[in-house]
Amino acid sequence: TAVHRSDYQAPAWWIDTVELAFDLDPAKTRVLNKMRLRRNSAVPAQPLRLDGEELNLSRVLVNGAGTSFKMEGSQLVLENLPEGEEAFDLEIFTTCAPDKNTQLMGLYVSQGTFFTQCEAEGFRRITYFLDRPDVMATYTVVLRADKAQFPVLLSNGNLVEQGDLDGGRHFAKWHDPHKKPSYLFALVAGKLVARQQRITSRAGTDHLLEVYVRPGDLGKTEHAMRSLMASVAWDEARFGLPLDLERFMIVATSDFNMGAMENKGLNIFNTKYVLASEATATDVDFANIESVVGHEYFHNWTGNRVTCRDWFQLSLKEGLTVFRDQEFSMDLAGSPSARAVKRIEDVRVLRTAQFPEDAGPMAHPVRPDSYVEINNFYTVTIYEKGAEVVRMMHNLVGRDGFARGMKLYFERHDGQAVTCDDFAGAIADANPDSDLARLLPQFKHWYSQAGTPRVRATGQYDAAARTYTLTLAQSCAPTPGQATKEPFVIPVELGLLAQDGSALPLQWPGEDTPGAASRTVVLSESSVQLTFVNVDEAPVPSLLRGFSAPVVLDVDYTDAELLTLLAHDSDAFNRWEAGQRLALRIAINTIADSAIQTGATGQIDQQILPDSFVQAMRAVLRHPQLDAAFKELALALPSETYIAEQLEVVDPQRIHAVREAMRLQLATALQADWQWAYEQHQHSGAYRPDAASAGRRALAGMALHMLCLAAQHTGDAVWPGKALQRFKDAGNMTDRFNALNALVGSGHALAAPALARFHAQFKDEPLVLDKWFALQAGACDRGGQVLAQVKQLMNHPDFSLKNPNRARSVIFSYCNANPGAFHRADAAGYVFWSERVIELDAINPQVAARLARALDRWKKLAEPWRSGAREAIARVAARPDLSNDVREVVTRALADE
Ligand code: ARG
Ligand code: ZN
Repeated sequence: TAVHRSDYQAPAWWIDTVELAFDLDPAKTRVLNKMRLRRNSAVPAQPLRLDGEELNLSRVLVNGAGTSFKMEGSQLVLENLPEGEEAFDLEIFTTCAPDKNTQLMGLYVSQGTFFTQCEAEGFRRITYFLDRPDVMATYTVVLRADKAQFPVLLSNGNLVEQGDLDGGRHFAKWHDPHKKPSYLFALVAGKLVARQQRITSRAGTDHLLEVYVRPGDLGKTEHAMRSLMASVAWDEARFGLPLDLERFMIVATSDFNMGAMENKGLNIFNTKYVLASEATATDVDFANIESVVGHEYFHNWTGNRVTCRDWFQLSLKEGLTVFRDQEFSMDLAGSPSARAVKRIEDVRVLRTAQFPEDAGPMAHPVRPDSYVEINNFYTVTIYEKGAEVVRMMHNLVGRDGFARGMKLYFERHDGQAVTCDDFAGAIADANPDSDLARLLPQFKHWYSQAGTPRVRATGQYDAAARTYTLTLAQSCAPTPGQATKEPFVIPVELGLLAQDGSALPLQWPGEDTPGAASRTVVLSESSVQLTFVNVDEAPVPSLLRGFSAPVVLDVDYTDAELLTLLAHDSDAFNRWEAGQRLALRIAINTIADSAIQTGATGQIDQQILPDSFVQAMRAVLRHPQLDAAFKELALALPSETYIAEQLEVVDPQRIHAVREAMRLQLATALQADWQWAYEQHQHSGAYRPDAASAGRRALAGMALHMLCLAAQHTGDAVWPGKALQRFKDAGNMTDRFNALNALVGSGHALAAPALARFHAQFKDEPLVLDKWFALQAGACDRGGQVLAQVKQLMNHPDFSLKNPNRARSVIFSYCNANPGAFHRADAAGYVFWSERVIELDAINPQVAARLARALDRWKKLAEPWRSGAREAIARVAARPDLSNDVREVVTRALADE
């Protein structure tokens, strides 16, 4: 049954303080929960209904005396509570079984250590509670456990007391001075060691930072600690937001459903986003750690100090915090071009993951109106599109205006549980003269309307009048439950280029002199006409610079115009975008061209890239000024998923074959240039994961891959040999993995022995083994062998379905990230998918529901894929015992069928 945003009611009871005492035992943990409650006089008197799940209840006391209670579903209902507004004590004693908790929600055991995950509704699996974010309480927690097995006992806030108990047990008492909702509660107990760092803030306060890991992993915590120190300094410098705790802890666990969790003062992380050494982690891992550590830390203000009133407001904290972590990474990257690279990467995620979500059966607004299972709404729409909405506000009011808005937001709402409206209101109110303030109600359609708007741009140059008229028109397709849409407020940053690529001045009618060469116009009507005056020649418009709004921009550029933008646009994002548009156009035209046939092997043996495109790519690759990281992004072809999104009807094999043929032609046509690039981007000296060094390694890795691809085609053995050599003696995981990937990706015979060697070398490094599994499950399917290989990998002694990282490394890498291998004409990939969804659902519904999303876009598929996919989804839906999580996903996928 669905929950609706419009049904929100304030809680009938407040919980002021909570005292929790845990006797930790993996098989049977005893939890004594003593709360101080009072009625919320603003709400009509009603029974107290406490949420609980999979708990064994043994005692309920009110002010120390027994009381009557009943169960309604999984809720504990108390009707005979003291009248009046006086506070009283409610004591609840329950037990739970953490070692049977495979869902990894609530209290669970991972490798002999206790962890919790309470967001969104996991606290109710620990004790009966008003498990909703608008009930904020002060927590005091006593943890008791066997001292030898669980020497470290952690919870939120400050350690106030610890000591030994009888029978080899000990205890620790923690007090969190900040009120918080139950989803931010955490405890950890086990054999852990910590890297510690004392810091003094700008304001002069002292803090202890700690990163807890399993013994043996301490050497891999330096980067996480550095990232945490940088996060503390950044939030203070950029937003004036200080660390508000004496002690801030991060703990890593290898069993975790998501990336990490911002529990107050005690962040719990997936090891993937903590542990890194140059020997075991790639540059991408290092960058992800920096951004996730930042993300969770920034939640301390945007999420914890000011939290969500209800879960429909999730993007209030997630969209804003993603925006903040993106800015953090950009600020640390430093140069304008490194910022642009980060922006391109973020937009690529948005367009390959969020745009499809917005066009599919799970489409929902940034602030949803209803859900069945809230865990299904931790989506790219809430996170990444939410961040784009915040970014548009930031750009509409300017950097200083946004800082003022944030200040007002905290002045108004510190310590409260609020809504997306409160946030937008604060930013607008702090900038009363801004376009945001002027258009606020309309701007908020970004929160209420799902779907990706399209903007169609058409230009008209009048040589006699020396004017250029640009028409911008917006539209948005219907999404489930929203047949029609109101116009959005769409900031479009733009500039005009002359035919030689130089910037033309921008001048409106009535202006005496031209203004800045790049300006933002705000499209709020369904269509607008803009006229620029004193334009000396027919310009090439550069539109939506920096991806100034999360829309699809339709423009009928000529190839020549795109080549001009690719070569000259001062906006790095649009420079990249021009190359992507060129490649996309070639891909789409080739896919539709029935004269271009695939051979018996499924490959296309024709040249499809026009010489102009090859030349342009060569010019980018050889460019003396462009950064290596930018070159790598510009030379990467649009993904199969992104190409598929542009088509009405999708033949996944055709897309795969065309893209592969394009890649092979780029590999062979630019062979000498790839060789040059590989040699130019070798580095010596100590490994550093900074953006510039990472960019050089990324381009060298791409070059090696292309050289191995070309070699497979020409039969040359030199480059595969070099790749093998590099694989063996690389000084860091990035180079080693790129070399292995080049061998596997080119389907070379040297790949198998290299994979075996890699496994032997890293058999004790779980995160590296994940890469080993993922590489094989994601491999190019040259003879239809990948599915059999995936099944074999699931029988490998190192495989476990219970560990989310490992399950993802095999199953998701195949179903979500390997379209060419997954979309088999015989539907065997879909059958495999349905079996795994069902199997995983019995263990971990959250992970299963993510996997269930792999066929979201099935309605776009051509036959026979479409029927095969529908059958597979129907097979899952026919199971009577599905979780809410998976049920909601497959029901929506099959809706209106
Ligand atoms: N708030 C966490 C973060 O964004 C994610 C928690 C997700 N939890 C969940 N059960 N879906 O950092
Ligand atoms: Zn978050």
